[in-house]
Amino acid sequence: MFRHVMRSVVEIVPTHIVREGGGFKVRRPFRMGRVLSPFLLIDEMGPVDYGPGEAVGAPWHPHRGFETVTYLLDGRMRHEDSAGNSGELNPGDVQWMTAGRGIIHCEEPHEDFLKTGGRTHGFQIWVNLPAEHKMMAPRYQEVPASESPTVEENGVSARIIAGECMGVSSSIDTKIPITLIHVKMEKGSRLIQKIDSVLNGMIYVFGGSIIIENKISVKKHPMAFGLGAKQNIVDGELALLSEGDEIKIHSTSESEFLILAGPELNEPIERYGPFVMNTKEEIHQAFLDYQNGTLAK
Ligand code: FE2
Repeated sequence: MFRHVMRSVVEIVPTHIVREGGGFKVRRPFRMGRVLSPFLLIDEMGPVDYGPGEAVGAPWHPHRGFETVTYLLDGRMRHEDSAGNSGELNPGDVQWMTAGRGIIHCEEPHEDFLKTGGRTHGFQIWVNLPAEHKMMAPRYQEVPASESPTVEENGVSARIIAGECMGVSSSIDTKIPITLIHVKMEKGSRLIQKIDSVLNGMIYVFGGSIIIENKISVKKHPMAFGLGAKQNIVDGELALLSEGDEIKIHSTSESEFLILAGPELNEPIERYGPFVMNTKEEIHQAFLDYQNGTLAK
């Protein structure tokens, strides 16, 4: 009989509130950067309620060597880059931007939203690129909420930003296998999520609380379910998971969280601000290219 190896929580990383870009509030796990390859950063933007004229964003800045994933839950944003690309993000929309060899852009509140004010909430997640793809041509993959794959079953609803959940897959193309799923669960509901055993896995809770059940599942044994250690994750905690091929989640309240998974890149990380490369020389080159105007050419 094939037994699944269940992932358990090996570490809880707490979060703190910082100000980014033009001063917008983000909630961010401590110690991001190396322990959670290939994810460099998980920023929860807000939630923050702006009055008229108060909303702020991130004015013009460059990126090289990785991808930024922006997922909006509330609010309205506008983005524009130096190559002439522009667009807007509304609740439920995903923008998967591969900076590759270079993008210079700004991410600001939409002018209508700035006028009226309102709630801004969402995520920006930085996904590292392996050395062979760091200098790839920049690209955007934009998935509006109306085309975004979602699934709802037994008190569990999910939006699949990347990867697969409950038989539904994302159309986002990634150079390395990435799972990024937004899950909402009703109190008492359960979800079993398969994650390839070669990937690092983690869960970021941003509403309510869940339990990761880490008992090896033995089907047809009525006493097996519910035994074993259980680990609680609450709002504002990032749980790093052990090796295994599935996660068994039990929601102890109405809850909301992200499931993230991706491979260990096993490459040196040299990061300076908006550049993430493998060596100091490459960072230096990124600065030179930015200064002489060739970064995003
Ligand atoms: Fe950016």
